[in-house]
Amino acid sequence: MFDFDLPLERRGTWSTRWERYPGDVIPLWVADTDFCAPPAVLAALSRRLAHGVLGYSVPPAELRAALIERLQRLYGWRVAPDWVVFVSGVVPGLHLAARHLLRPDQHILVPTPVYHHLKRAAVLAGREHAEVPLVLSSGRWVFDEDRLQDALRPHSRLLMLCNPQNPGGTIFTRAELTRLAGFAEKHDLLICSDEIHADILLDQGKPHVPIASVSREASRRTVTLISPNKAFGFPGAGCAFAIIEDAELRRAFSADHHATVHDPSVFGYEASLAAYRDCGDWLVAQLAYLRGNRDLVEREVAAMPGLKMAHVEATYLAWIDASGLGVPDPQQYFLERGVALSPGAQFGAPGFVRLNFGTQRALLAKALERMKNSSAQKST
Ligand SMILES: Cc1ncc(COP(=O)(O)O)c(C=O)c1O
Repeated sequence: MFDFDLPLERRGTWSTRWERYPGDVIPLWVADTDFCAPPAVLAALSRRLAHGVLGYSVPPAELRAALIERLQRLYGWRVAPDWVVFVSGVVPGLHLAARHLLRPDQHILVPTPVYHHLKRAAVLAGREHAEVPLVLSSGRWVFDEDRLQDALRPHSRLLMLCNPQNPGGTIFTRAELTRLAGFAEKHDLLICSDEIHADILLDQGKPHVPIASVSREASRRTVTLISPNKAFGFPGAGCAFAIIEDAELRRAFSADHHATVHDPSVFGYEASLAAYRDCGDWLVAQLAYLRGNRDLVEREVAAMPGLKMAHVEATYLAWIDASGLGVPDPQQYFLERGVALSPGAQFGAPGFVRLNFGTQRALLAKALERMKNSSAQKST
């Protein structure tokens, strides 16, 4: 019904991913997909364009209601309408959290490897931070309680979380999140949880659990950042939500609103509402396609000398340990051989590369073939 194999030309469309590397390079770096957005999203945007007026707009009450209904239905998480703050993206939300939820002399815990903005938010906010290395346990990247404890300082106030984990691909379990929330409670830490990948679940039977939903206490100390833009293929339209129960935290988080931080655009509102209301079938179909891509990547990488990766439970990102390749800069090595990956250093692990498999399978297979030849060259 939906054709994810359809090749689409993205060069010349201002695509971040496709414009950076000219020539015969397959770009599998920045995290967007090469698929058309769902038909219902495109139809909603077309209706808005046909109306013709693109004036200032307020957050639509029906979008707030659709979001709340969805959180209740998927996670049994009851969110009151006034807990929802509309933001133009999850990244601004991360930066607002680091700037406004804690005092300048307080400290942030940042897991690594992690999507670079979780750390960047702390750095640009001028807050001290400590990195908490995740560990690979039974093939999953997870928190280690001793390392969390070691990273803790007397002035620690905020714990950053990325769930599902980018780049590790972990879907944290309810038990893991309950323990993490218990740690936060014990040490009076707030939690900023980036859950943008919550809808990109590849392993069936492993549900996403919002950390704020594990207990009343977790809800009171958490800012949850979510957005349909990643899963439903419209990150260029931009729209996200911060869910904050505590009124004081909400007020602090919102300090820059309508000043340095703009509201989402009318296109973001339209796309989000259509995604939540009308795109369930499309999402299921996309996940089935991505699961096939994930399986292909895992199979191929397992056969490449010098490379290894953990199983990807969620996201369309593969976190590949290339340290066995014996090259100083694996991202550069593959780039010179026609595949642009994200450098692991960006996430805090220079021996790694991150591969975005949100693309047509034929193109992915071609990129993997190039990688296989490159790694075989190195091992001979
Ligand atoms: C974990 C994570 N958070 C946030 C973002 C970007 O969020 P936004 O486009 O809503 O600012 C990304 C994009 O790759 C991401 O992987």
